[in-house]
Amino acid sequence: MVCQPQLKILVSHGEIAEAVDRLAREIKRDYQDKQPLLIGVLKGSFVFMADLIRQLDLPLELDFVGISSYGAARESSGKVKIAQEVQSPVKGRDVLVIEDIVDTGITISFLLHYLKKKRPASLKLCALTDKPSRRRIPVQIDYRGFTVPNKFVVGYGLDFNQMFRNLPDIYALED
Ligand code: IMP
Ligand code: MG
Repeated sequence: MVCQPQLKILVSHGEIAEAVDRLAREIKRDYQDKQPLLIGVLKGSFVFMADLIRQLDLPLELDFVGISSYGAARESSGKVKIAQEVQSPVKGRDVLVIEDIVDTGITISFLLHYLKKKRPASLKLCALTDKPSRRRIPVQIDYRGFTVPNKFVVGYGLDFNQMFRNLPDIYALED
């Protein structure tokens, strides 16, 4: 893969694979006798989710939810809305939300609140990356891949203006 000069590698694909293995082990341990509904937050989580579910030897179901908050900027607009509703019934299900990154926490807090109103049996969060330095709303991350510094990160599903999602590693976008 051609690496563009403004991208600085933060997490290699090997390190990502190890983290996915570890997260899958933690999730399998906790959901052993359950049939969880995994809900991926579009679009950023789709690469992570695809790798994670293939390590999960569980009778799981999956769905997606679309949220818009960012637009074409690096800063959250703070205005969050559901752009694509969850199709599966959530009531009484053991729901595990799969997110690419928790930054200010505004998006995921909104989503967790939206899902909670649907009365799942349980509701947990798995996030590939966590940028705690920018948090504005406290968020409980039940399964965390990596903590990343206060940089805009791309690759492995994460985008900047819809670009770089296809990179196999995670990079910091340098100014
Ligand atoms: P939050 O509402 O500020 O927590 O932002 C969460 C959403 O913004 C994530 O689901 C991402 O789609 C996007 N986002 C936040 N930080 C980054 C980043 O560093 N790279 C790519 N997307 C990001
Ligand atoms: Mg995004």
